Amino acid sequence: MLPLANERPGLRSRQPSLTRSGEGRVSSPPSSSVPLTPLLIGPSPVLVTGVSPKGIGSTTVLNLAAHNPGLLILASRTKSRLQEVAAEITAKHPATRVEIVVLDLGSQKSIRQAAADVTALTDTLDLLINNAGIVVTSRQATPEGIEQQFGTNHIGPFLFTNLLLPLLRNAAKTSPPGATRVVSLSSAGHRLSPIRFSDYNFEGKPVPPEEDHFKPLPGAFGKCTPDGYNGIVTYAQSKTANILFTLYLQTHLAELGISAYTLHPGSESASQTPAAPENPDC
Ligand SMILES: NC(=O)c1ccc[n+]([C@@H]2O[C@H](COP(=O)([O-])OP(=O)(O)OC[C@H]3O[C@@H](n4cnc5c(N)ncnc54)[C@H](OP(=O)(O)O)[C@@H]3O)[C@@H](O)[C@H]2O)c1
Repeated sequence: MLPLANERPGLRSRQPSLTRSGEGRVSSPPSSSVPLTPLLIGPSPVLVTGVSPKGIGSTTVLNLAAHNPGLLILASRTKSRLQEVAAEITAKHPATRVEIVVLDLGSQKSIRQAAADVTALTDTLDLLINNAGIVVTSRQATPEGIEQQFGTNHIGPFLFTNLLLPLLRNAAKTSPPGATRVVSLSSAGHRLSPIRFSDYNFEGKPVPPEEDHFKPLPGAFGKCTPDGYNGIVTYAQSKTANILFTLYLQTHLAELGISAYTLHPGSESASQTPAAPENPDC
């Protein structure tokens, strides 16, 4: 975790404390008026996305495995890494049934296949943790032409969650109200950008002030690639989308007994976070 370079006096008081990788240090937990339902892990299946050794996903599934879920589904992009974590779970918690599903959240074709694979394993799902996420610092796009971070961190989980909704609804029919839940990992970095509805692909289209990112961006966060792409801003946009998605789910699914939560997991040295580009300010 690196301190901000070129941090201006007084900036800290009115803006999030962010590290170079775009993550934040949160000094106090957010308050919530929604009563928390005790975490019930029992015979019901649970699914976590973005599972590979050393990541937050693997720590999450190892902790969940200790509670003996009836079925623990690990869904992520790289099969060999999934297998490695699954083997560790089986070694430590042999009673836990573990299944792996290959899922590329940057590809809607892969997402639809993965949802079908999950549905072949179970017709109920009591806990879905949308953990997978990427940080990129150069312009890339999904096969559908969506900016890579918005596509992978938000549009992908949005589609995957929607495709798994029938399973969540089935689980909610027999679980205590609110015990069936969707948890989406956001980031304190969301504070750097709202959703750029007028330019969500970050193509330089004009955006109204309320859709524009925080200015001035502090230190290395203000650096763009030569084609004007800022990976911190697009990451922040995707993490804001995680929060708005959660609010929408909570609003519309609560009456079905499904609750939705989002969180900043703290700052951890991510295994694949690239360094910010050393390019001109933008
Ligand atoms: N680390 C932090 O300090 C921090 C702070 C705030 C928020 N977060 C959030 O916490 C979550 C986990 O972060 P992390 O630090 O554990 O990241 P990480 O170590 O980089 O792990 C990310 C996981 O997501 C998977 N993934 C990446 N692209 C994918 C795709 N297209 N489809 C499916 N899976 C994909 C990766 O799979 P591969 O094995 O194939 O790479 C990996 O398992 C993210 O949502 C991140 O935004 C992290």
